[in-house]
Amino acid sequence: PKEKGWMGSYIYNYQGFWASPRTIQGVIACQQQFQAQDSDIILVTPPKSGTTWLKSLLFVLVNRMKYPAFEQNHPLLVKNPHDLIPFLEIRLYVDGLVPNFASFTSPRLLSTHMPFASLPKSVQDSKTKCVYLCRNPKDTFISMWHFTNNLRLHHIDIHSIEEIFESFCKGVSPYGPFWNHILDYWKQSIEKPNKVLFLMYEEIKVQPKLQLKRLAEFLECPFSIEEENCGVMDEILRMCSFENLSKLEVNANGKLSTGAENKMFFRKGEVGDWKNYFTIEMSEKLNHIIEQKFQESEIKNTPYI
Ligand code: A3P
Repeated sequence: PKEKGWMGSYIYNYQGFWASPRTIQGVIACQQQFQAQDSDIILVTPPKSGTTWLKSLLFVLVNRMKYPAFEQNHPLLVKNPHDLIPFLEIRLYVDGLVPNFASFTSPRLLSTHMPFASLPKSVQDSKTKCVYLCRNPKDTFISMWHFTNNLRLHHIDIHSIEEIFESFCKGVSPYGPFWNHILDYWKQSIEKPNKVLFLMYEEIKVQPKLQLKRLAEFLECPFSIEEENCGVMDEILRMCSFENLSKLEVNANGKLSTGAENKMFFRKGEVGDWKNYFTIEMSEKLNHIIEQKFQESEIKNTPYI
């Protein structure tokens, strides 16, 4: 099946999720070629859920012995987080630019937007850890709307917010249906708590230290008492904050190796921006859909969804 996608061109349903032919090719290449290692850490998100933020936190957390936060030669001060933690499926496809994953030092930090069922088999079968991050559907939708608007500047065929909203509600969005993506990882996080950690953007905003601690414990690199007393967590959070990252020269004016402008990944970084765009009808319609889709799952009890 095919549908008109957010970028104006057609997107296709592959293994139950929607994506462009280019992305599907990347996913297939990844499924065929990627060999997971037990020590791998894979960050998984639906697009526009705060991937850039969590990539920063992960990188600084895992490498904190080698590069203390804010140290002058810290890679995060000169590189965009997407250049530090590559997407598996996106980078694999870009014109033969397959990074040599085997040469990455352990633990390899990687990321993907793939639904759980489409992850390469070796990721599912190994001890590879998946850190999952999602975000309130309305804010994710608005963030995606802005992001694709920016990308679409070079395209002629522009969709209205109403049209895009209708397709989102039908489940047609990049790597969607949005709710299936979330439900599948939620289920895995309950069944295999050592394999999948389920995080929410809003939870990190409200309780940053607690969530960072959870992340460190899940990754088996917990903070020592000494680190806690010396304010290491505060430093990591400050370094990865929207305010700090968006001001860095590399993020304000630089480009990714794929050509995208780094500033596109830093828009507002707030909770609840959807209220500036949604009508009451749109809000009620999405509430109803989410309620229906999540009614069978304990996820309905989590705040922010
Ligand atoms: P908004 O469009 O709502 O501002 P992704 O990284 O998955 O593409 O998600 C992008 C969203 O995360 C954008 O949301 C962006 O502003 C926000 N973001 C990026 N860096 C952030 C940070 N350090 N802290 C909080 N939010 C951040």
